[in-house]
Amino acid sequence: SSNSVFTKQSVISQYLPASVKPITDTIEPVFAPSNIALCKYWGKREAELNLPVNSSLSISLAHLGSKTAISVAEEDQVWLNGIRLLAEDKFSRKVIAFIDLFRRADEHCVKVETANNIPTAAGLASSASGFAALMLAVDRFYGLDLDLKVLSAFARMGSGSASRSLYEGFVEWQMGVREDGMDSFALPLDSRWADLRIGLVKVSTGEKAVDSRSGMNRTVDTAHLYQSWPLQAAADLQRLHQAITDQNFTLLGETAEQNALSMHATMIASWPPLLYWQPDSVAAMQSIWQARAEGIELYFTMDAGPNIKLLFTADAEAAVKQRFPDLEIVAPFG
Ligand code: ADP
Ligand code: DP6
Ligand code: CO
Repeated sequence: SSNSVFTKQSVISQYLPASVKPITDTIEPVFAPSNIALCKYWGKREAELNLPVNSSLSISLAHLGSKTAISVAEEDQVWLNGIRLLAEDKFSRKVIAFIDLFRRADEHCVKVETANNIPTAAGLASSASGFAALMLAVDRFYGLDLDLKVLSAFARMGSGSASRSLYEGFVEWQMGVREDGMDSFALPLDSRWADLRIGLVKVSTGEKAVDSRSGMNRTVDTAHLYQSWPLQAAADLQRLHQAITDQNFTLLGETAEQNALSMHATMIASWPPLLYWQPDSVAAMQSIWQARAEGIELYFTMDAGPNIKLLFTADAEAAVKQRFPDLEIVAPFG
């Protein structure tokens, strides 16, 4: 539902100086991490500003993410992983549209160079690190010096999950209640969890057929089951806070896995049905459940894509590697 009296531009302009101009010809690349939600963002209450139905909680993926630089150029251009994209490419148009929320386009053109060290549009949260890095690059290129909360709220307008990629570690995105969305931003939690590990099981790194945005809109519009989602998410958010406070890994893992499967249940109950799983995704789930039956504390979460993200602690690493030899392991707290 896009029923807000606000537009992205009208909200953002309140926070900008009268004239927005580059303060330098070029900036060094700025990095933002990707993030994996333990309590998922699924469904918007307002589409223009990307305002969510529910609050969400994630872990940032340390060195995995996006690096973005901006320079003044003769004509607008977007480069992804060293390749110049066509101006009419959807990826380019989204990047330039985001820049246009800030700049005076008639005064200068930009070259945006971005690189992802995670697969793009494969359910590994490239939109999160991508728009967070772009927001940080815009802030630096134009010398805006905005507050992190404001940067988070603006990054959210690019992609909801990007609001959480401004920070390391555990991050919570508060859904907010305001119509202009400026209370809908993320903040880091102050808890750390040194031996927490995330394993990426890459089932398929190709671009997904249905992007996250269309997937969640379809779910909200067509799945009666979606009505139960806000309650599930609220309960899970509480449990995750408890788990993090108590460093209770079983509670963390169980909650994250049930939250992910509940989200996927609402997708499957949509029409036309939305199933991001592939046979290898299901095989990985069964292997995880088998490991648990054998006493290994191993859980998973999964986003809008076929890839599985394992949750475990350092002491289980050897046992987990044995089952998933090609695993990419991230230690989110170093
Ligand atoms: P994902 O699961 O990877 O987040 P989405 O469907 O949510 O998939 O988003 C993919 C989109 O995110 C891309 O089509 C592009 O518009 C945007 N995106 C990905 N990487 C970047 C980046 N480095 N800079 C800007 N935008 C990006
Ligand atoms: C399943 O943030 O990619 O990964 O706001 O429309 O850009 P848009 O969607 P996006 O959705 C992420 C959905 C998710 C869950 C999550 O990351 O919380
Ligand atoms: Co995304």
